[in-house]
Amino acid sequence: MRTEKILVVLGGTSTEREVSLRSGAAVAEALQKAGFQVETLDLQPDNLHKIAEIRPDLVFLALHGKGGEDGSVQGVLEWMQIPYTGSGILASAVCIHKILTKKLLRDSGIPTPRFLEIGKEAKADPQKAAEKAIEALGLPLVLKACCQGSSIGTVIVRKKEDAGSALSSLFGYGDAILAEEFLSGKELTVPVLGNDVLETLPVIEITAENEFYDYDSKYTPGKSRHIIPARISQSVRKEAERLAKEAYRACGCRGFARVDIMLDAAEKPFVIEINTIPGMTAQSLFPDAARACGIPFPELVAKIVNFALEK
Ligand SMILES: Nc1ncnc2c1ncn2[C@@H]1O[C@H](COP(=O)(O)OP(=O)(O)O)[C@@H](O)[C@H]1O
Ligand SMILES: [Mg+2]
Repeated sequence: MRTEKILVVLGGTSTEREVSLRSGAAVAEALQKAGFQVETLDLQPDNLHKIAEIRPDLVFLALHGKGGEDGSVQGVLEWMQIPYTGSGILASAVCIHKILTKKLLRDSGIPTPRFLEIGKEAKADPQKAAEKAIEALGLPLVLKACCQGSSIGTVIVRKKEDAGSALSSLFGYGDAILAEEFLSGKELTVPVLGNDVLETLPVIEITAENEFYDYDSKYTPGKSRHIIPARISQSVRKEAERLAKEAYRACGCRGFARVDIMLDAAEKPFVIEINTIPGMTAQSLFPDAARACGIPFPELVAKIVNFALEK
């Protein structure tokens, strides 16, 4: 039996609220099984005071997306001097922003697909801006709203004539759009754990029934598969693990994070993004990789708690 009182913060107000409710419920159950005293809080703008009332020894953040995975709640908890799981303010803020992350990766010499930044000036003539991106990066072209997750706001454009309307639709999520070169190889994801000394869990290969790993294939049972271990050569695996740790370090991540990687046609790995609060339902990628190497869910959450108490 552990004596720490842990508050699992879940829900919130982002587009990934539903996923977060499920992650948080699964984490709370696993923490209880690991022997902690556990409470949960669906964080809303009007109930922040509850955290002060509950006075937990540690907050386990199970929020995804804006207002939770982006450094904002981390800032509140720092200010309240309450320890919390995962990355701090800066790494969280960088990693929620796919363009900033890619700039940091590029500067650190970590391969990431070629990209362009499209700003709000493109709203005047989205078709023209999209065609410029196609000229530079080719077709298919990947367009992503810079600060969303769960594939919300990610579009793969296959025909030039569809590009303008696809780009316009993404401005609904904000003014920064990432245009990225499409990579046709396997999709991998690498769970990383640790503060100063890092370990990776087994590399996962993801296959989806839809045209890519979109929201529907992520959350509809049977529409995607996690293949553990990934069907890749030993050298690609080693390289993916090395890049995942380097990307984690370059962005200043702590505790745990999941690094998404795409292979190109020649099987060379490229980092596409870092998830500082990855999905944590029992069926999610991170817990799945842990299970595959003999770490049950309660042991995984206890490890994450220990990393948080160590910093
Ligand atoms: N450069 C790319 N080439 C091919 N497919 C991509 C590329 N970038 C993203 N995807 C597809 O889009 C999905 C979502 O992109 P990602 O950058 O991981 O954002 P999210 O935060 O929504 O998970 C990926 O899981 C992958 O299936
Ligand atoms: Mg992703």
